[in-house]
Amino acid sequence: MVTRTSIGALGMAGLLAASGVIALSGTADAASTLGSAAAGKGRYFGTAVAANHLGEAPYVSTLDTEFNSATPENEMKWDAVERTRNSFTFGAADQIVSHAQSKGMKVRGHTLVWHSQLPSWVGTLGTADLRTAMNNHITKVMQHYKGKIHSWDVVNEAFQDGSSGARRSSPFQDKLGNGFIEEAFRTARAADPAAKLCYNDYNTDGVNAKSNAVYNMVRDFKARGVPIDCVGFQSHFNSASPVPGDYQANLQRFADLGVDVQITELDIEGSGTAQAGSYSNVVKACLAVSRCTGITVWGVTDKYSWRASGTPLLFDGNYNKKPAYTAVLTALGGSSPGGGGGTAACTVSYSKQEEWSDRFNGKVTVTAGGSAIGDWTTTVTVTSPQKISATWNGTPTWDSSGNVMTMKPNGNGSLAAGASTSFGFTVMKNGNNAAPVLGSCTAS
Ligand code: XIL
Repeated sequence: MVTRTSIGALGMAGLLAASGVIALSGTADAASTLGSAAAGKGRYFGTAVAANHLGEAPYVSTLDTEFNSATPENEMKWDAVERTRNSFTFGAADQIVSHAQSKGMKVRGHTLVWHSQLPSWVGTLGTADLRTAMNNHITKVMQHYKGKIHSWDVVNEAFQDGSSGARRSSPFQDKLGNGFIEEAFRTARAADPAAKLCYNDYNTDGVNAKSNAVYNMVRDFKARGVPIDCVGFQSHFNSASPVPGDYQANLQRFADLGVDVQITELDIEGSGTAQAGSYSNVVKACLAVSRCTGITVWGVTDKYSWRASGTPLLFDGNYNKKPAYTAVLTALGGSSPGGGGGTAACTVSYSKQEEWSDRFNGKVTVTAGGSAIGDWTTTVTVTSPQKISATWNGTPTWDSSGNVMTMKPNGNGSLAAGASTSFGFTVMKNGNNAAPVLGSCTAS
């Protein structure tokens, strides 16, 4: 497993400033699955798939119902398809591809040239032999799946973490030098000219030294006509490596080079409203970048996640939809049929009010849907080290972190159909100017 380092939290200000409003509401004709909602926005919504779970009924029904793109989680890696030199074993990957195709899903190919999950024989080859083996691997695997893969991660994780901007040591880098990436992409283009060819990496999700190095490589490739069509942003997030405040800006600067961008391995450790808010921000960032063509989460259910203890996915271990699921569906413009916030009895929206150097005031407007409501509840999550120091026109309670405020009305919360009320609060910035994230509005 690779080591993740923090790329720093700049907060969500940029992401939320772009919209300013989160409204959760359902309409009769809104798409009710992740895939169909994403399709409504011209995107795909995919998941990593493991062949050994395709016999588990709820796994398959969740996969088939919700997702319209699949990435084999391990089955197309070098150690799975060419464990012995020039002897190819495609059984498990084929199982995923044929399942996906039978359900009308797209397939992402992951991955051709990577330092990890690489059989040891590759590392023992001399330079000329390694070059032959790399090109043979790319060619044979891509030809096997020719016409079936919408995007290939041709090269994965070739850059080092940290400030150096250097390439990571690997048999390919160490023996073939910097040019191995260009050679891999040229070979890939020849093998399946219709597939989009991506460079994929992690800790490149915000603007930093590593993403700058990848950016410079892509810019150089485009300038010299080296074939590259897309950049994948793995987007494995947790509290040490949260969604960067400049996530959308980073996606946009790559798109501006003339490549598509894809969110390829999204998972966000956490739970509840905070996790949901982060997922929502990622989806909104992608939707705000016209060349962000799709999102893949790195697994169907928390129980089979590669980081299961962090419960980073959209379905829990019993395949129940988590708040993060509802947040993603809502951000995609969809809504759950009958429940989970999808009944749309009320909606919430945020606007920033007065601001001082150390603090700002926020206002949340609560609006009843098509029917009168007797009571309402919503949440406001601020980004640590921000703190809410005062509130008005509502009755707050707090979670243990102190960052998630659940707000209920003062006294009688009834609202006529379509009527609105508002509450306010003061956020102490403590150096962070991120906008608060609203949860869904629930009514009774
Ligand atoms: C992970 C898989 O999820 C695990 O099952 C496996 O043991 C290790 O690899 N970056 C990538 C993915 O590009 O291929 C990795 O997948 C996660 C990190």
